[in-house]
Amino acid sequence: MISIFLILLHNCIGFFSLDDFHTEFVQMSDGKKLAVDIYRSLTNEKLPVILEMTPYGRTSESTTFRNEARYWYQNGYIFVIADTRGSGDSEGDFEFFARDGQDGFDLIEWVAREPWSNGKVGMRGSSYTGTNQLYVAVKKPKNLFCINPSATFGRPLENLPFNKAFYLNWALGWIGKSANLPKNSLDWKNTDPSQWLEHRPLYTLDEFVTDRILPLYRKFLEHPTIDSFWEKIYLKPENYSQIEIPSLSFTGWFDGTMYGTLLHFEDMVRYSVRNNDHFLIVGPYEHGNAPDGGLDFITGKPKKNIGDLFIEDNAFLPGLNMTKEFYDWCLKDRPKPQWKQVKAYITGTNEWREGLFFVKDNLEDKYLYLKSKYGAASKMGDGVLDLDYPTYGSDTYEYNPDEPVRSDLSKNVLLPVDMNFYLNRTDFLIYTSSVVKKAFTVFGKVKLELTFSSNVRDTDFVAFLMDVDENDRSIKLGSMGTFQLRTRYRYGYDKEVLMEPNKIYNLTIDMYEMGHTFLPGHKVRLAVTSSFYPIISANLNTGNNIAFDMGPSIKSNQTIYYGSPLNGFTSRINFKSKDLGYDCF
Ligand SMILES: *[C@@H]1O[C@H](CO)[C@@H](O)[C@H](O)[C@H]1NC(C)=O
Ligand SMILES: *[C@@H]1O[C@H](CO)[C@@H](O)[C@H](O)[C@H]1NC(C)=O
Ligand SMILES: *[C@@H]1O[C@H](CO)[C@@H](O)[C@H](O)[C@H]1NC(C)=O
Ligand SMILES: *[C@@H]1O[C@H](CO)[C@@H](O)[C@H](O)[C@H]1NC(C)=O
Ligand SMILES: *[C@@H]1O[C@H](CO)[C@@H](O)[C@H](O)[C@H]1NC(C)=O
Repeated sequence: MISIFLILLHNCIGFFSLDDFHTEFVQMSDGKKLAVDIYRSLTNEKLPVILEMTPYGRTSESTTFRNEARYWYQNGYIFVIADTRGSGDSEGDFEFFARDGQDGFDLIEWVAREPWSNGKVGMRGSSYTGTNQLYVAVKKPKNLFCINPSATFGRPLENLPFNKAFYLNWALGWIGKSANLPKNSLDWKNTDPSQWLEHRPLYTLDEFVTDRILPLYRKFLEHPTIDSFWEKIYLKPENYSQIEIPSLSFTGWFDGTMYGTLLHFEDMVRYSVRNNDHFLIVGPYEHGNAPDGGLDFITGKPKKNIGDLFIEDNAFLPGLNMTKEFYDWCLKDRPKPQWKQVKAYITGTNEWREGLFFVKDNLEDKYLYLKSKYGAASKMGDGVLDLDYPTYGSDTYEYNPDEPVRSDLSKNVLLPVDMNFYLNRTDFLIYTSSVVKKAFTVFGKVKLELTFSSNVRDTDFVAFLMDVDENDRSIKLGSMGTFQLRTRYRYGYDKEVLMEPNKIYNLTIDMYEMGHTFLPGHKVRLAVTSSFYPIISANLNTGNNIAFDMGPSIKSNQTIYYGSPLNGFTSRINFKSKDLGYDCF
C-alpha cells in the first residue's frame, strides 16, 4: 500500500516526499565528512545502489538529480548522491579529481555496509561525475560492479584546463560559477570579456572578474606543464588494467569531452581484462544531452537543433533505458545487452555504424593540401584545399594580441555553428576545396599539420574545419569549439619550448575524431588564425610565463608555408578516409 502511494507521488514532476530521501554525513578514511543524499523506498528490500559524486550540488533542489533519482527508484535501484569533497555541504578542500578515487572507494565501502544495500554498486554520471568514476574504478572497490562514465575529460592539463593554450572562459566559468565550489556564490562583478582583456596579469583575473580569489584557478595557472600536480590524476596503462568491471560511455561529435571519452574507452578495451564488456556510443550530440542519447534529460525530448545543425530522428537513442539495461545486467544478473561495442553516427549521410574502433573500416591516411596563388587572407583570398602536392608558397597575416578574434558568446560557439561572421577578418587564412562531386566520409582522427614561422618567441595557432553547404553556410565541425596549439607546447605538454623568431618550424593541431560525410554540392573549408577570445586566453606573444605576464603584448606576423620549405613537409589536413580521392571534386 505504502509503495503504491509513493509511486503515485513520484509521478508528480519535481516532487519527492521527505520520506523518500534523507541526508547523511559520511566519514571518509581521513576523517573528513561528505554530505550524501540517499533516495530509497521505506521497504526492507535490499537493493542495488547507483552512486554519483558531484561538484555541482547534490541538493534536493537540483531538478536534474531528483529526476535521476526518481528514474532509478522506479526501476528498483537506490540512488545515492554525494557532494564531492570541498563542494556543496561536504568538508575538505576541492582537489580536481585528486581525492575522488579514495573518497569514492570509501563511499562504496560505506554503502555496502548499510542495511538497505545488497552490496552491488554501479556508478553513474557525466562530465566531472563521469570522469571521477574512472579514478574510483582503478582503485578496485570490491562492491563496485560497473561504471557509466559519459562525456569524460581527456588527459589532465592537455584537455582541461589548458586545451593546448589556456581555456580561459572555461576555467573562470567552471570554477567561479558552474561548479558548487565558491559556496554562497555571488554575482560576478565584471562580466564583460572586453574589459578582462586589458587586465594583467592573468593570475589575478579571477578577482577582477568575480571579486574574489578562486584558489583552483590560480593553482591551474601555477602548473602550466605536466608536473606532480597533474601526474596524480594521470591515468596510465597500469591504471586502466585495474578496471575489471564493465563500462557504458556516451559522448557526441559536438561534446567538448568527446576525445576524452574515446581515449578512456580505447584504453579500457586495450588494457582491461574485461575488454569485451566496454560499450561506447557516439551520436550527433552536445555535452549536455550526450549521456542520454541526445535526449534532453529533464524533458526527455530530442534536441533537434545542435548549433546550426538539424539532427534527424534516427540519431536519438533511449539513453536512460539503455543505461538501465546495462545496470540490469551488471547489478541484477539479467542478460547482457546485445549491442556492438561501438555505435557511431555519421553526420551528413545520417547513418549509424557499428563495430569496434574506427580501424574496422579500412581507413587510410588521406591529405588535403593548403595553397594559394595571391594570398589566403580572409574569405576574399584565394586559398585552396586540394589533393595535389603544392609548389612552394606562403601566406601571412598579422596577429595583434590587443585585438583578438572575439568569440560571440551569445551563440554557443562550441557547437556546429555557421562561422561566416568571422571569416571576413584579415587575420584569418581561409582555404576552401572545390565543390564536392562525389560524397566522401571522414571517420576517425583529423590532424592539421602546419609548417610555419612567426617573428616572436611564442604565439598561438587556432584552426576551424567547416562544411560549406549549398547556402554558403560554413558549418564548423568537430567536438571542440576551437582547435589550437600554443607553440611553446609543440613538443608536448611536459615542457615549454620557445621559438627562434622567423625560423621555420612545423606543428600538428590534433582536431580529434570526426565522423562526417561531405555531400555533393558542399565544400571543405579550413580557417587558421591566432586567437578566439575569451574561449582561449589571448597569447601576448612575449614568451613569458602566461600566469604572470605583465606585457606589453607584441604584434606578430604569422606565416604558413606549403611546398616543402622544411624537409619535404608541407601544410596539410590529414583525414582518415576510404573514399576521399580525385573523383570527389
Ligand atoms: C596508477 O597506478 C600507479 C601504480 O600502481 C599508482 O601509483 C597511481 O596512484 C595510479 N594512479 C591513479 C590516478 O590512481
Ligand atoms: C523506455 O522504457 C520504457 C519502459 O521500459 C518505455 O515505456 C519507454 O518508451 C522507453 N523509452 C524510450 C525512449 O524508448
Ligand atoms: C563580409 O564581406 C562581404 C563582402 O564584402 C559582405 O558582403 C558581408 O556582409 C561581410 N560579412 C560580414 C559579417 O561582415
Ligand atoms: C614535422 O615534420 C616532420 C616531417 O618532416 C615530421 O616527422 C614531424 O612529425 C613533424 N612534427 C610535428 C610536430 O608535426
Ligand atoms: C609584417 O610584415 C609586413 C610586410 O613585410 C610589415 O610591413 C609589418 O611591419 C610586419 N609586422 C610586424 C608586426 O612585424
